[in-house]
Amino acid sequence: MHASDYHAPVLVEEVMSHLLAGDGLYLDGTAGGGGHAEALLERCPGCRLLAVDRDPEALETARARLDGHAGRVAFARMSFRDAPRHPRLRGERLAGALLDLGVSSHQLDRRRRGFTFRRGAALDMRMDQEAPGSAAELLARAPRGELHRTLRAGDAPRPGALAARIVQRRAGGALRTSDDLVAVLESVLGRRATHAEKARLFQALRMRVNDEIAALEEGLPGIRDALRPGGTLVVISYHSVEDGVVKRAFRDWSDPSRGLPPRLPVRAAELAPLGRVLTRKPVTPPAAEVEANPRARPARLRAWRRAA
Ligand SMILES: C[S@@+](CC[C@H](N)C(=O)[O-])C[C@H]1O[C@@H](n2cnc3c(N)ncnc32)[C@H](O)[C@@H]1O
Repeated sequence: MHASDYHAPVLVEEVMSHLLAGDGLYLDGTAGGGGHAEALLERCPGCRLLAVDRDPEALETARARLDGHAGRVAFARMSFRDAPRHPRLRGERLAGALLDLGVSSHQLDRRRRGFTFRRGAALDMRMDQEAPGSAAELLARAPRGELHRTLRAGDAPRPGALAARIVQRRAGGALRTSDDLVAVLESVLGRRATHAEKARLFQALRMRVNDEIAALEEGLPGIRDALRPGGTLVVISYHSVEDGVVKRAFRDWSDPSRGLPPRLPVRAAELAPLGRVLTRKPVTPPAAEVEANPRARPARLRAWRRAA
């Protein structure tokens, strides 16, 4: 498979125009098939890159794609949550960092990875297949309350009823495939589930299996602190819950006084903005991009620059 068939990078021009902040070291915390990484290295001959992904298949693809830039790229299989502690960042701060969240087209298209509701897919959903806890295991073991919270946090339809039905259904045998899960959803909805309803259910489970919201909430401040003055952070999210986390973090860093009670005894330096939001509204893909690549549709790009 050619690397460009692995995943079509979204909003490439918009990412580059916000991310590039001079020569130096950049972090791609979600390297995937290496599409954004390649664009960065091609456009900036003085840039070097730390390319990170949890998925070894993604890193292999990115490595092959970026072969021509070998001297300027280092690869690391890890969560971007831990990237600020990578040895490369000990002596040097980042000129910029990119997080292009979620899953790649390749991950979605591989039935054995179990990310989609296509018929007969195993309920796996782990980005790192050596990590513990597949979706099937979660569905088999999680108490009803945890299932409810997981489904509600990920915006799945009828989360309470779904959690109860999963618990009822598993008493008669484990849920193993996408068909089993879709059948449970349809038994709750009382009709054929729409594409969007199935997608919301599968996405909610995937986000829990990979602990995606916690990785984002913990990763963002660490990456912010690893930026050099004037360094940029660009995040593309595909789910309203993720986008909300990014929006709040960027807003709070840009106005630390936000939400504090009046006349609280804090020093002026503690209220100084750490940087500023570069995107007043999230940047969305142009119609032509969505037409060429419908998976780009939900993308929301936000960018932030550390104070100089
Ligand atoms: C949308 S794709 C990125 C595509 C990439 N920008 C490109 O141009 O090909 C998302 C990638 O992020 C990875 N990923 C998601 N969460 C991660 C995390 N917390 N740490 C590291 N990688 C993560 C997934 O394994 C997947 O390969």
